[in-house]
Formats: sequence, C-alpha cells, structure tokens
Amino acid sequence: MGSIIGERVRISVYGESHGKSVGVVIDGLPSGIRIDADDIAAHMQRRAPGRAAWSTTRREGDVAEIQSGVYRGYTTGTPLCALIQNFGTRSEDYEDLKSRPRPSHADYTGSVRYGGYGDPRGGGHFSGRLTAPLVFAGAVCMQALHTHEIFVGGHALEIGGERDTGFDDVRLEPEFLRRLVRREFPVISDEAGERMKAAIEAARRDLDSVGGIVECGIVNVPAGLGDPMFGGLEVRIGAMVLSVPAIKGVEFGDGFAIARSRGSQNNDPIVYRDGAVHTATNHNGGIDGGISNGMPIVFRVVVKPTASIPKAQQTIDLETKEAETLVIKGRHDPCIVPRAVPVVEAVTAVALLDVLVSSSKY
Ligand SMILES: Cc1cc2nc3c(=O)[nH]c(=O)nc-3n(C[C@H](O)[C@H](O)[C@H](O)COP(=O)(O)O)c2cc1C
Repeated sequence: MGSIIGERVRISVYGESHGKSVGVVIDGLPSGIRIDADDIAAHMQRRAPGRAAWSTTRREGDVAEIQSGVYRGYTTGTPLCALIQNFGTRSEDYEDLKSRPRPSHADYTGSVRYGGYGDPRGGGHFSGRLTAPLVFAGAVCMQALHTHEIFVGGHALEIGGERDTGFDDVRLEPEFLRRLVRREFPVISDEAGERMKAAIEAARRDLDSVGGIVECGIVNVPAGLGDPMFGGLEVRIGAMVLSVPAIKGVEFGDGFAIARSRGSQNNDPIVYRDGAVHTATNHNGGIDGGISNGMPIVFRVVVKPTASIPKAQQTIDLETKEAETLVIKGRHDPCIVPRAVPVVEAVTAVALLDVLVSSSKY
C-alpha cells in the first residue's frame, strides 16, 4: 500500500509536484481496450487548473505521454505507463514552508513521516498535482467499463453551502451522466452553479477557501458484483475515494441521513420490472452486503476547503519552536470541489474495473 492500490488492476502513482514529472503505471489491465486519446485528454482538462475564474491561475499543462502498454491504439495487457511533465512550477513560493508547516496540509505530518527528507516544493507527493495521473488511469479504466455499458459520472452537489439538484438515484441514465461530464462547471442546475461560483468568489475576496460535496453515480453495474466483508464494493470504492487528497468522508445511498430513518423507510422494496429485479427506491445506494443489486450505485464525498489560503494563519517554526504567522504565497484554488469531480469519477472507475477483473466478470 502507500502509493500503490488494487487487487488485479493495480495502479502505482509516482512523482512530486515540482519534480520532473508525475505519472502512473497501471498493471493488470485487460488487453484490447481501445484507447481514445481525445477522451482521455478531455478528462485531464476537466481536472487541470487555470481554466476558469473559479480556479487557480497555475497552469499545469496536463498532457499524458503514454510510455508503454498501448500498441496500435489498444492496450496490450502489459503495464501501461503514462507520465505527465511538470511545467510552470514556482518553487520559490514554497521556500518558507520547509520549517513553517501549513496548517492542515501535509507539510508537518509528511516531514515527520519521512524524517525531513521529503520534497516540500508544492506539497511534494501530497500535492493535488498527483491527481492528474489518477484521472489518466481512470479515463483508461472508464474506456474498459464502457465496453460493459457501465458509466461513471459526478457533479458538485454542494459548494460553500450552496446546493445543486441531487441525482435521481432510481432512474439515473448513462446519457444523463455523459452530458454531465461534458459541462464546463460540473453541476446539474446552472442556477445552483452561479450561486456556487459566487460563494467561491466571496471566499477568494476574503483570502479564504470553501469546500463541498461531490456526488458520484455508476450505472449499469450488474447485480452480484463485489465480495462480502473486506471485499465489499463500499470498501473498494471507499478506499479509493478516501485516497484522494482533501476528501474527508464518504457516504453511500442516503448515508448519514439513514440514522434518522426507520427500517420501513430505509428498506428498498424489491420489484420486478421490464424483465429484471429492481428496487422501487434506492436508499442503500445500489449495494447490499457489499454486493451490487443492479440499481445505480450512488455515493457522496466531502471535500475540505483548500488548506493553502492567503489569509494569515498560525503555525510554528519547527526549528525554533516559536509561534509564527504564516501568509501562504503561491497559486491555490479557493475551492477544489469542481476539479475534484473528475478525480472522484476516475478513482471510482479504477476500483470498479479492478472488482470486475478480480471476479473474472470482465
Ligand atoms: C484536484 C485537487 C487539487 C488540489 N489543489 C490544492 C491546492 O491548490 N492547495 C492546497 O492546499 N491543497 C490542494 N489540494 C488538497 C491537498 O493536496 C490536500 O489537502 C493535502 O494533501 C492534505 O491531505 P488531506 O487534505 O487529505 O488531509 C488539492 C486536492 C485535489 C483533489
């Protein structure tokens, strides 16, 4: 574990924010997946910074260069390696952070963990930059999932307290998700999107940041996928999404709201419709006993407000142990949520493909 995850489809992510490159090796991919480079680039662009007013002005040039594992446009089945070069880094913005850790970033914990040898520039291996290779891996895995008609899509359900329309968790359709992932600002309701952008702008003006919730859905997952206990779909998807920097929690179906339901309200009635077993409601998010029941799988993750804010904060100097006031320089998003949407979708696709391949259902 660490920067490697997966049972049969395993990804190994490497790199530091201001090193030469970041990248991923995907091991155990089925052979014969058609690689659509334009589709991969489109996913990478959705994550890339500097595209809009609500994002940082930092330009990361997210272009994935495939090094191996693809021949004549199809996966070979041997390790697929892709690297993304780092451009436009401003390491001088991080000089201060070596001895004065940013509150609630990984500067202090990472430096203790690695005995001070870690690369502090841009957050090193703990940077959001490391989500670029995740999005690449996810885009490849999505192309494999599409051959099984399985689609993954997400949106910003909430930013700075402003809420989007939620998914219809019973009738979520592939075409709806496909349209959603093409949206510039990842919301269902444009009006909610405008309120969210205003909340982000207000936080930026206050030299602060805002967090929110990403809602993600997976459709056409056949019933019977997943294992009990430690191999359950909640565990496999949950481990992946909680690996994404800044994600602090995940809930499936109605999640924490279930605490206030009775069994008669939370149970999803089983019905037979159009020649297949369905449930009339989907409070349990398409998963029972860790195993898919054929309904859309729906979950939400909470994304914390960006830790690196320009507002003065309290820290200490690790060398002198004296209290210090920290004013963070550098270009940071006042809100990570819109850029986290494609990352959450991506790691979900990786987890699901791994479950499919591990259970010989691919
Ligand atoms: C797409 C994306 C971009 C991010 N960009 C930033 C950033 O610009 N500044 C920052 O402080 N944190 C950013 N983060 C979050 C940090 O990497 C994360 O908060 C840090 O590694 C500490 O980990 P934790 O929040 O999971 O505890 C980003 C996260 C994601 C998913």
